Amino acid sequence: MIEKAIAGFKAAFGYEPQGVWSAPGRANLIGEHTDYNEGFVLPFGIDKRTYVALASRQDSTCRVSSDIDGKTYETNLTSVPVNLDWALYPLGVAWVMREWAKSGFDAFFVSDVPVGSGLSSSAAIECAIGVALNEIWDAGRTRQEIALLGQKAENQVVGAPTGMMDQTASMLAEKDSAVFLDCQTLEARAIPLNLEPRNLVVAVMDTRVAHRHSDGGYRVRRESCERGAKTLGVSSLRGLTVQDLPRAEAELDEVDFRRVRHVITENQRVLDSIEALSEGDMERFGELLLASHDSMAHDFEISIEELDVAVEVAMKTGAVGSRMTGGGFGGAAIAVIDKGLLPQLEKNCKEAFAAKGYGEPKVFAVVPSEGARRER
Ligand code: GLA
Repeated sequence: MIEKAIAGFKAAFGYEPQGVWSAPGRANLIGEHTDYNEGFVLPFGIDKRTYVALASRQDSTCRVSSDIDGKTYETNLTSVPVNLDWALYPLGVAWVMREWAKSGFDAFFVSDVPVGSGLSSSAAIECAIGVALNEIWDAGRTRQEIALLGQKAENQVVGAPTGMMDQTASMLAEKDSAVFLDCQTLEARAIPLNLEPRNLVVAVMDTRVAHRHSDGGYRVRRESCERGAKTLGVSSLRGLTVQDLPRAEAELDEVDFRRVRHVITENQRVLDSIEALSEGDMERFGELLLASHDSMAHDFEISIEELDVAVEVAMKTGAVGSRMTGGGFGGAAIAVIDKGLLPQLEKNCKEAFAAKGYGEPKVFAVVPSEGARRER
């Protein structure tokens, strides 16, 4: 991939890049739609990454290209970038970092993070360019700050009202660990997963039903949560616990109540998961994953039939636990499962999807990997 990024750069711009940087996509183990409610999340960086070969220029022009569509997109940081397709993500990051800009740049992207699968291909782009620009512009931002700049680009330039989980995972990820993040205090801690000694893997079952968070459902869910917090007199749903559920039920309409119940119980499930993982209680962890999926399917209503089937198939195949991952309305489910059962899981998913007339899913293992870094 590094060589591919360099070759792509040379073909697109006709000279040698200054360096190559990369950042991983992420899978979220548990803690969904809790980040923008100042709650808890537990994602990890995956072994699929986006690479950017980049060089600074003498002038203020910023050009990005990739092997996605072979096009080159251009801005010069004098006005906010618009209508640039995927290039809004990297040029959006350059825009939110413009106060540190010392020059324009040329950048070429290659990626093996699947797009639209709920594995944060967009955060991988944002964090790869974020670390690259931080270095060539000598911006001096911390890893956490770069994550927040990525989120800012996504919110303000792309127009997706997402939280900070994906970028934080991509920046702070560590090998063999998940990132436990408190989205209120921004305290982050690596949680060792010890999957390998237990012969377990995290399998991704990608339904290949694409989602986008800049439209509809995600925003409406977020609004429900904000309305719920306001009615219940807290600045965010983080201010509530399961003890507040009866009051929430009395004061909110039926739909908002279920949205709020998902967030409150999901926060608790993240904390319980940390405890289960630290005690090595995989059975309990598996139950929490399933309870999380159930809450997303019924209370938050962001699952789709394909995701429910994937989870059901995983459990029948012998998974420890399984749930949809990411923003929902498509994308992928994960399963924690014995390594030896992976081929069977793939076969069962494909058969179940074919029997239902769904498109063919992709099933593969992901390995918790290191966060954004310079490659060369
Ligand atoms: C998307 C967003 C994240 C988070 C998840 C849901 O991935 O980008 O900020 O809200 O959905 O947990």
